Amino acid sequence: MIITIDGPAGAGKSAAARLLAQKLSEQSDKTFEYLDTGSMYRAIALLGLRRKVDWNIAKQLENLAEKASITVADGKTFLDGENITELVRSPEVTEKTRFAADNPVIRQIMVALQRSIAEQLLQHGKGLVTEGRDQGTAVFPDAPLKFFLTATAEERTKRRLGELQQRGKQGNFNEIFRQITERDQRDTSRSVGPLKEPTNAIRIVSDGITIENVVNQLLQESKKFL
Ligand code: DC
Repeated sequence: MIITIDGPAGAGKSAAARLLAQKLSEQSDKTFEYLDTGSMYRAIALLGLRRKVDWNIAKQLENLAEKASITVADGKTFLDGENITELVRSPEVTEKTRFAADNPVIRQIMVALQRSIAEQLLQHGKGLVTEGRDQGTAVFPDAPLKFFLTATAEERTKRRLGELQQRGKQGNFNEIFRQITERDQRDTSRSVGPLKEPTNAIRIVSDGITIENVVNQLLQESKKFL
């Protein structure tokens, strides 16, 4: 069974998808894997940074993406065998990821990879919770259960500020708000695989709701399909 979770940056998709896969594995007779598709686009950006590509020449990044080996296991992402899960969260990688995500050739490679990962899991009798921007629309349009997890830009800005504070860092509300709305604009307007609410998705707005509560809602809906 494939469960998709799409939504804008900062809506809590990663944490929700990871926890949902974990709880479904505990509470059913199937093992559910979690797929963070954003980390796959981030991995290509990391590779571009390491190989010092010319970001103005799309073909250079495409060539790297064609040869790269991206694998996932236990919710972690590996690039040519190296665990890059944490590394790809850096601001430098985040800034360059658009060159991978906006590139139709690279998207085609990533979509094929996501489908092949899902196929292998299903063949082994496992389930998949996959999160991103296009999972329920373009990649797995036939998934039996789709969620659209969102929150207002104000709420997402406050959460980001909170995360920074926890790490002893300061953030500026207006600056973070600008970054978030800019990313929304980019994510919804890209010509291939744009962020779009799937027509048949369950919509969850997480403003003022704890992650535990969100996961509970996802879990209750998912259990109807088990
Ligand atoms: O979810 P994230 O912040 O790790 O995603 C990083 C970038 O990759 C984000 O700007 C949107 C893009 N992305 C995408 O285009 N399609 C996906 N399925 C997942 C992420």
